[in-house]
Amino acid sequence: MIRRLLLKNFKVYTNQEFFLEEGSTAIVGPNGSGKTSILEAIEFGLFRRVTRKEKKVPSLEDLINHRGKKAIVELDFIAPINRREYTVVRQIHPGKKSAETTADLFLKGEKKPEVSGPTPVDDQIVELLGMDRHAFSALTYVRQGEIDRLSRLSPRERRSDLYSMMGLGIYDTLSSKVQKDLRKTTKEIGSLEETKQHLEEINKHLPSREEVTNASKALQKIVSTTGNSSDIQKIQSLIERIQTSIETIETQLTSAELSGRPEELKRESEIAKHLRDLLDTIPDVAENQLRPHIRSEARTLFREIFGDRYSDLVIDDDYDISLYDLQGNKVSLMAASGGEDVCVNFSLRVAVNTALQKYSVSGPPPGILILDEPGAGLDEQRRRWLPDAIAGLDIVKQVIVVTHMQELKGSTAHVISLQPQGKGRQPIVELQ
Ligand SMILES: Nc1ncnc2c1ncn2[C@@H]1O[C@H](COP(=O)(O)OP(=O)(O)OP(=O)(O)O)[C@@H](O)[C@H]1O
Ligand SMILES: [Mg+2]
Repeated sequence: MIRRLLLKNFKVYTNQEFFLEEGSTAIVGPNGSGKTSILEAIEFGLFRRVTRKEKKVPSLEDLINHRGKKAIVELDFIAPINRREYTVVRQIHPGKKSAETTADLFLKGEKKPEVSGPTPVDDQIVELLGMDRHAFSALTYVRQGEIDRLSRLSPRERRSDLYSMMGLGIYDTLSSKVQKDLRKTTKEIGSLEETKQHLEEINKHLPSREEVTNASKALQKIVSTTGNSSDIQKIQSLIERIQTSIETIETQLTSAELSGRPEELKRESEIAKHLRDLLDTIPDVAENQLRPHIRSEARTLFREIFGDRYSDLVIDDDYDISLYDLQGNKVSLMAASGGEDVCVNFSLRVAVNTALQKYSVSGPPPGILILDEPGAGLDEQRRRWLPDAIAGLDIVKQVIVVTHMQELKGSTAHVISLQPQGKGRQPIVELQ
């Protein structure tokens, strides 16, 4: 859950603090007043990037206020994994080629950061939230104009998005990480074995220690009868060099690196293989457990909204979605209207959130839902339903809704109202 947001020179905000509460909060204000910017700051604070509709990623430099030198986002959040409160502080400043960022993560109130640097902070936040930015996009943050995204995807893509929503994408990421490590280990074993073979090959062609000692003795005999000469000295130094080479190769061949390491690596890679197989099966098992709950939650919700037009919403095993009209005729999602689409999506997202909250399989759910203009495309009758639906989202700990809709104001526990102040000035923020 998000507790506090401090923005300095982040887009239109030159210096503004927001306190966010448990329950539902509406962010209201006219076009261009800075509503979406607040959500983008949350995304940036957590994941170091901002994604817009259709996965467009604006350059981070665009996030710095036109009149400022650097942007600062400070975000307090409670980690679902341990219920502790953290503060993440990120800055954006123009770099040589593109914008550069700094990042620090503190336990709330501590002076010394727990983790510093963009990548370590990114990794730590993913761990604390139990979700990466894909899961955040799929489950938590419904961007402006993206509410009908789920129905525009192919069933396969939809399945993968729903996997992300269930927090199962993390297993895919882990599995690929293990696979990558496995490839590295196999390569290392290969190169160690190659070195060993190479050394053994050289060793084969070198004379044995005994042969070298004999040659050395024979040379001494010659010296004792014919005396020393420059030729003999050359031969002597050659014999010494051969002796050193033999010793070096023997030491290398018996070193721990070459004699024990390949075996150790082989054992490690066996364990990694088992781990990878396990990680690959977890999502299927988890998804199988969740699927019936998601189906029934989505169907109940959809019938509540569209009960006057449709009798059912059915999600099959391939995540193909069908609607049934009052006469029981199947209506493909393709044929549904824009408003109906919005409701199917809303139902599905809420269903996944609810099912996760009740029957979470992969750790505590994030417990937060962010909706940017969920009512876009709904007619008046459906709009009337939306406030109730949002007010009924109490299973999710924190709901943040951005809206123009006056109707929504009364249905959330808190309201942040933005009044634009004209070009280059940050809006006046009012809490209600
Ligand atoms: N780097 C920047 N510096 C200053 N202002 C900026 C910067 N980038 C964007 N803006 C302005 O911030 C304003 C707020 O944009 P935002 O997307 O948050 O509006 P919104 O309230 O969501 O509007 P809508 O209702 O149209 O979706 C816009 O007017 C935009 O021009
Ligand atoms: Mg907006």
